[in-house]
Amino acid sequence: MSKSLKGKTVVITGSGRSIGREMAIRIAAEGASVALLEINKENLEEVRSTIAAAGGDVRAYEIDLGSESQIIETISKVEKDFGKIDCLINNAMICPSEDLLNTTLESWNKTLQITLTAPFLCIRQVLPAMIKRKNGGIINIGTVNAKAHFGSDSYSSAKAGVHALTRTVAVRYGPDGIRCNTIVPGTINTDAWQERVDQNPNIFEELKPWYPVGRVGTPKDIADAALFLISDDSQWISGSELLVDGGLLAGYAPMFATVEGSDK
Ligand SMILES: NC(=O)c1ccc[n+]([C@@H]2O[C@H](COP(=O)([O-])OP(=O)(O)OC[C@H]3O[C@@H](n4cnc5c(N)ncnc54)[C@H](O)[C@@H]3O)[C@@H](O)[C@H]2O)c1
Repeated sequence: MSKSLKGKTVVITGSGRSIGREMAIRIAAEGASVALLEINKENLEEVRSTIAAAGGDVRAYEIDLGSESQIIETISKVEKDFGKIDCLINNAMICPSEDLLNTTLESWNKTLQITLTAPFLCIRQVLPAMIKRKNGGIINIGTVNAKAHFGSDSYSSAKAGVHALTRTVAVRYGPDGIRCNTIVPGTINTDAWQERVDQNPNIFEELKPWYPVGRVGTPKDIADAALFLISDDSQWISGSELLVDGGLLAGYAPMFATVEGSDK
């Protein structure tokens, strides 16, 4: 590893498993100090000890991102523990599968609370010190669901807000030295899919034809993009939506052969 992120402190929400876990491990391996924010205590400790055992500089913060006061307290604690925050990655979310007509107001509000409001609160909390230092990076993990309909109705609406939040931060605080970008993943094989995999063990195989690159994604695909956006190699990139979707949004892959008649 090049240790290219040495001296930087990176906060990652929802870093107890899947994409958040992978980003934390890879970013720590590049020499950054990593603050893990996660609600699941066991998973939080597993990631902390994995990174520490590899020699990484890491601290774990158990938090419910549904609580404004916990976000305020935790971000202040991270700033105190590490001295500064260089980068925030808003990764945590919840993604109920019910359709709109079966979505209760309670479920809708909860989805927006964790998926959209928590990123807003985390950003509001880290920005003042970043603006003071005239330097800061924010990465919001978005989704292809914010660009086209693929189900998960309340989650998709919340994520569309996350994409807009990126633009707001990038434009309003760009002159203060802040860069803010959205990573836009397609299907990533993670624990979040377990319920659907239990119902259909073939689900990732069946999704393959929609992906021009020929497979669904892995947490590594997203961690690679996050490393780029944190690094000095992306200093003029802000307000962007970095599609990491195996080509999904470039076109409706199974459709064009029918249109051309070349499927006959
Ligand atoms: N997996 C995919 O196919 C996919 C596709 C597009 C976008 N994404 C995005 O990637 C990101 C990570 O997805 P994933 O598949 O790794 O999800 P995941 O469910 O495996 O991980 C989410 C993490 O967030 C934590 N979390 C949830 N609620 C929390 C709370 N209240 N407080 C603190 N932590 C909380 C969970 O405990 C979990 O560790 C999300 O932003 C998701 O929207 C994922």
